[in-house]
Amino acid sequence: MTDVFSAINGRTSANNFDPTHAMSVQEIHDIVELTNQTPTSFNQQNWRLIAVNTPAAKARLKAAAYNQPKVGDAAVTFVVVGKVGGHTDLPALIKPMLDGGHLDQAAYDGWIGMANGMYNGKDQLQRDEAIRSASMAAMTLMYAAHGKGLVSGAMIGFDPAAVSAECGLASNEIPVMLVAVGRAAPGNWPRKVRRATADVVSFSAD
Ligand SMILES: Cc1cc2nc3c(=O)[nH]c(=O)nc-3n(C[C@H](O)[C@H](O)[C@H](O)COP(=O)(O)O)c2cc1C
Repeated sequence: MTDVFSAINGRTSANNFDPTHAMSVQEIHDIVELTNQTPTSFNQQNWRLIAVNTPAAKARLKAAAYNQPKVGDAAVTFVVVGKVGGHTDLPALIKPMLDGGHLDQAAYDGWIGMANGMYNGKDQLQRDEAIRSASMAAMTLMYAAHGKGLVSGAMIGFDPAAVSAECGLASNEIPVMLVAVGRAAPGNWPRKVRRATADVVSFSAD
């Protein structure tokens, strides 16, 4: 267990993973459970993870990821998948809040109506939202792994069509990122340089 500041300052991208390290389904589940707390627009939860953790599946995913060795070496590589049009799942997703008395019918209908008003017919925005949500989830996943004493490595270096085919993604699903998770092997880089803090913030005018 680490505190938030240590996690933010301590996480780095790993390239070298211990290839002898395996994770149990329960260990993977624990990280996914933490990742599942990621917030999304309207709580539409338009992302999911595919845990690639067997030698054969890792080898196939590695081939689709330009043979990046970490996909084969890490205990698990998660395919972080974003869903286009995920707002249409909202009626079912938030129904438990209606049934549980946390929302009345007017608030429930209003919530869904606002989401439909925002996304219906807007293909680019729906795609943006899929990538936004999946990216948020990927970050939570990396911190969850860090909190478990593991390392992670995000990847955009893969062939999206090959990953989609390998994972059997639906036509409205996007492979947004791969995130390798496992135990570190020696030789990883320390935290890389960042821009000066003053360069990444500006303040509003009066
Ligand atoms: C969206 C994203 C995609 C990345 N893709 C790759 C990749 O394909 N291969 C790789 O070795 N590193 C990849 N990285 C790791 C970055 O190079 C790394 O996060 C960056 O250099 C900062 O290093 P740090 O995470 O250790 O601070 C990716 C990182 C992010 C956030």
